[in-house]
Amino acid sequence: MASFPSQLPRSPSLLPKVSLLLLSLFSCGGLFDADDSASPRYAAIFSFGDSLADTGNFLLSGALPFPSISRLPYGVTYFGRPTGRCSDGRLVVDFIAEAFGLPLLPPYLAQGQSFQQGVNFAFAGATALDTAFFEERGISDILWSNSSLSVQLAWFEKLKPSLCGTPGECNAFFNRSLFLVGEIGGNDYNYAFFKGKGLVEVRSYVPMVVQAIANATEKLIRLGATELMVPGNLPVGCSTLYLTLYGTPDKKDYDRRNGCLKQLNVFAKYHNALLQRALGKLRRRYQAARIIYADYYGAAIRFAHAPRHFGFVNGALRACCGGGGPYNFNVSAACGHPGSTVCSDPSSYVAWDGIHLTESAHRDIATGLLEGPYTTPPLLPSTTGIPTHSSGLF
Ligand SMILES: *[C@@H]1O[C@H](CO)[C@@H](O)[C@H](O)[C@H]1NC(C)=O
Ligand SMILES: *[C@@H]1O[C@H](CO)[C@@H](O)[C@H](O)[C@H]1NC(C)=O
Ligand SMILES: *[C@@H]1O[C@H](CO)[C@@H](O)[C@H](O)[C@H]1NC(C)=O
Ligand SMILES: *[C@@H]1O[C@H](CO)[C@@H](O)[C@H](O)[C@H]1NC(C)=O
Repeated sequence: MASFPSQLPRSPSLLPKVSLLLLSLFSCGGLFDADDSASPRYAAIFSFGDSLADTGNFLLSGALPFPSISRLPYGVTYFGRPTGRCSDGRLVVDFIAEAFGLPLLPPYLAQGQSFQQGVNFAFAGATALDTAFFEERGISDILWSNSSLSVQLAWFEKLKPSLCGTPGECNAFFNRSLFLVGEIGGNDYNYAFFKGKGLVEVRSYVPMVVQAIANATEKLIRLGATELMVPGNLPVGCSTLYLTLYGTPDKKDYDRRNGCLKQLNVFAKYHNALLQRALGKLRRRYQAARIIYADYYGAAIRFAHAPRHFGFVNGALRACCGGGGPYNFNVSAACGHPGSTVCSDPSSYVAWDGIHLTESAHRDIATGLLEGPYTTPPLLPSTTGIPTHSSGLF
C-alpha cells in the first residue's frame, strides 16, 4: 500500500466515521413503527464511540482538526445546519433513537440538556485504546482527540449520580436502557495506516483494540447495563478515502464483485471475528445481559454489491461531497473546503465526504439492525435475526 499523505484531514474517523433537536412532529419515528403500544421499550440510550456516532461532542470541543463539520454542507439534508454530525443528516444512532420513540441523543458536552432519556459520549476521532498506546508507537501526533473509550466511560461514571440515586434506582434505570458500545476501534487502525504503518503491524493491534472494547462492555455490565449493542467495523476496503489513497493499478487487489480493496476488507473481517469471539466470552460470563453484536460490515457491504437496490444510483464508492478524482475524494479539496462541490441528491450516494457515510446509508444500516438480520441476537427480539455471514471468514 502506498503511504499516506502526511497532511491528510487527519480524519479520525476515517472510515469509520462522524442533535439535539427539537425533534420534529413525528415523535415515534414513523420509519420503523416501533411498538407504539404500551410503554417504550427503552427508557434511555447511552452511546459511546467515534464519528460514526458523535452527535456533537467533537464540534462542541472545538473540532480543530476537522473544522469543516462546523459548516454546511454538513447537516444539510435533515437539520439544515451543522450539528457536529459527520454526515449530511442523521446517523445510525439517531435512527435507532427514533425507532424506539426517544429523542435524538444530546451530546454529553451540551450544557443544559436533559440526559434522562439518554446521552451520547461518542467523540469524532476517538479510539478504543488510550492515547498512550499511540504515543508508544509514534502515532499520537495525528490523533484528533484523547477522548478514548475509557475517557468516555469515565464521563458516564461522573454523570451517573445525576441520573439515578440509590444503587437500586440505578439498576432499575439501566436495566431499561440500551447501551451502544461503538462503532469504535476503526480509528485505532486509521491513524496507524495514515502514519504509514503496514498491514502486518496494524493487524497486530487488533487483539488489543478488541480487548479494549470488550473491557468497556464488561465495565458497563458491572455498572448495571443489561442490554448492550456492540458494532463491528465497516468494510474499510470500500471506503472512498482508502480507495483513493491506496489505489493500485493491480486489478488483483480489488474485489471483482464490488470494486473494494480486498486486503482491507479482510482486515475488517478479522477485527469483527475477534470481536464476536470476545463478546461470546462475555455472554457466557454475564448470562443476565443481552450482548448484541451489530454487523455493520454485513449491513454496509450490501451497498457495494447492489447499490441500485438501495437507490444509490451513483454507486457505493464515489463521494457526494468532494474535490474531484476517480472517487470524488481529494485531500487538497475535501468536502466543505474550497474546490469541493456537493452533489444535488445525497440520498443517491453511500459515501458522504469520502470518509463518512450519508444519512441515507445510515438509515439503511439502522433498518438492517432493527429489522434483521444484522444483529445477533436480534436487537428487536420479535424479528428473526439469523446468524450473520461476515464472521469467521478470515
Ligand atoms: C492529548 O493529550 C496530550 C498529552 O496530554 C496533549 O499533548 C495533546 O494535545 C492532546 N491531544 C488532543 C487532540 O487533545
Ligand atoms: C431487568 O428487568 C428484567 C425484566 O423486567 C428482569 O427480569 C431482570 O431481573 C432485571 N434485571 C436487573 C438486574 O434488575
Ligand atoms: C482489559 O482488562 C484487563 C483486566 O482488567 C486488563 O488487564 C487489560 O489491560 C485491559 N485491556 C485493555 C486493552 O484495556
Ligand atoms: C484536487 O484539488 C486541488 C485543489 O483544489 C486541485 O488543484 C486538483 O486539480 C484537484 N485534483 C483532482 C484530481 O481533481
